[in-house]
Amino acid sequence: MCGIIGYVGNRNAPDVIIQGLRYLEYRGYDSSGIAVWSGEKFDLVKTKGRIADLEKELLKTPVSGHLAIGHTRWATHGCPADRNAHPFVSYNSRFAVVHNGIIENYLEIKDELQKKGVVFTSETDSEVIAHLLESLDHGDVKRAVLDATARLKGAYAIGIICADDPDVLYAVRKDNPLVVGVTESDGFICSDINSIQKFLTEVVVLENGQVAKVERGRVELFDFDGNDVEAKFIALGSLEESDRKDFECYMDKEIKEIPTALANAIATYRNGAFNRIDKKYLRRIRRINVVACGTALHAGLYGERMIKKYLKKIDVTSEAASEFRYGDPKVDDRTLTITVSQSGETADTLVCQNMVRNLGGKTLTICNVETSSMVRSSDYALFTSAGPEVAVASTKAYNCQCLVFLLFVLDLARLRGEIDEFAYKNLQADIDALPEIAARTLKVAPQVARFANKNYTRKSVFYIGRGLDYCTAMEGSLKLKEISYIHCEAYPAGELKHGTLALIEEGVLVIALVTQKELVTKSASGLEEVKSRGANVLAITPFYDRPAIAAVSDYRIKLPDVNEDLYPIISVIPTQLLAYYIARAKGCDIDKPRNLAKSVTVE
Ligand code: F6R
Repeated sequence: MCGIIGYVGNRNAPDVIIQGLRYLEYRGYDSSGIAVWSGEKFDLVKTKGRIADLEKELLKTPVSGHLAIGHTRWATHGCPADRNAHPFVSYNSRFAVVHNGIIENYLEIKDELQKKGVVFTSETDSEVIAHLLESLDHGDVKRAVLDATARLKGAYAIGIICADDPDVLYAVRKDNPLVVGVTESDGFICSDINSIQKFLTEVVVLENGQVAKVERGRVELFDFDGNDVEAKFIALGSLEESDRKDFECYMDKEIKEIPTALANAIATYRNGAFNRIDKKYLRRIRRINVVACGTALHAGLYGERMIKKYLKKIDVTSEAASEFRYGDPKVDDRTLTITVSQSGETADTLVCQNMVRNLGGKTLTICNVETSSMVRSSDYALFTSAGPEVAVASTKAYNCQCLVFLLFVLDLARLRGEIDEFAYKNLQADIDALPEIAARTLKVAPQVARFANKNYTRKSVFYIGRGLDYCTAMEGSLKLKEISYIHCEAYPAGELKHGTLALIEEGVLVIALVTQKELVTKSASGLEEVKSRGANVLAITPFYDRPAIAAVSDYRIKLPDVNEDLYPIISVIPTQLLAYYIARAKGCDIDKPRNLAKSVTVE
């Protein structure tokens, strides 16, 4: 949430900042802005809206210089508006600041500063940082940064430039991601390596509680007490970039990439990713907590069911990270907490990961970003290998999260002697076929598009499913509401009759996932109940021709045959396509849905 970037060097700083902000836009797109040191003052250009809007403003008000910071905002405190856009410049115009995170004690600091006569121009928490720095500066900028940091409570990544130090960028990290890098003639700070990687061969990923002073060719790191810390550079060689190419949007591209992503995940596993995990410990595990948010949580719920099925001697729970933290979780040295995350930066999940480690438990993260905070602070990591995911709505990462979770469960079951070799090998063979089956499933796209074009005006949609299908129902429902803004709920198919059935009436669309053989008859009766109350039913199922399903569905999307345990990885594809085509028919901004951001770095 919110992207920050800073540049000092021989290039024209605004050009570097704008290029970087385009990459960072996934982190929030409520407003954006740039502050450039002109040699005499900070030139400030900021506006509500997208980076494209900022670029238009810059055409009207060109700025140039060798030192600049930029920001793209996901609003927390204060509505999306010009006045709440970053950067903020301090009352005597000597500091300019960009911030990602939340300053929890900002009202207290604001009150103190206001009593001293400081006038605030925004409703944000972030503006206090600029004024606080100015009020604490007595001629030593580094000291002012450290003193300000000592006052701030909350989670933050901050970029700071100062008129008195016009060849230096300062960066502070507490709980939100921050990366710095240099060449002989450049210095960079940013929230995400992708925004600067093309200029660099190596970067330093700041740890929590670190301050960086960045100049051309030089990085100095300090802890919050001002003590020197060694800067550890990591090579950037293998980072991938994502180019939208001829696809209509990133979501379209990323759905079409599912077969390749699954193939990559299978190949990564083959190359022995699991071998890095301590086998002795894996044999001792008694409990697994699965913790994640949103789409990643749905993958975690699938993982939980697989653990229940294949690891009978392990107790398992799964919970939204934002709740897990406050639920007095059971953690001991035989508890493994598995976090699932595309970005590896989600604050709620990251906090849980750190919390269980403090309680003496071990952590494994199933994550898509190898350089992320979650990977770096977890005991073990399994990479989903889905490749960069740019659209805010997660698609291919979800398929890979489910797959990698399953691979882990099967390997663990094998290691602990809980699955026989024959069953294990059979499942592996079925897994090997997944990329091809996913490719076949994608062929339903034209049919789904036609359905979407006829149904995009629906006001109320329900996704239902039993057993494993309920996980997919939740994911399908989240995707639809997230990008098409249609009110949609996911329900266990058997639960509707316990209250929610009252909402079923003519005009409501019920989408049923029916992939589990044993549950077909029960699912059919559930569908009968909604149909007889006026709902239209779309069934997503391999049991296309079963009279029980045909009789109760108005529309059907046929799934290919696959091992039942693997259906969530495949049956979610039509739901991803449906969300995409409905959002497209409605003219929504598919890759950047309103109110959201790709990386949720606030709790
Ligand atoms: C929905 C979506 C979100 C994320 C959630 C967690 O399409 O992408 O629900 O899944 O914010 O993000 P990560 O996976 O980065 O931890």
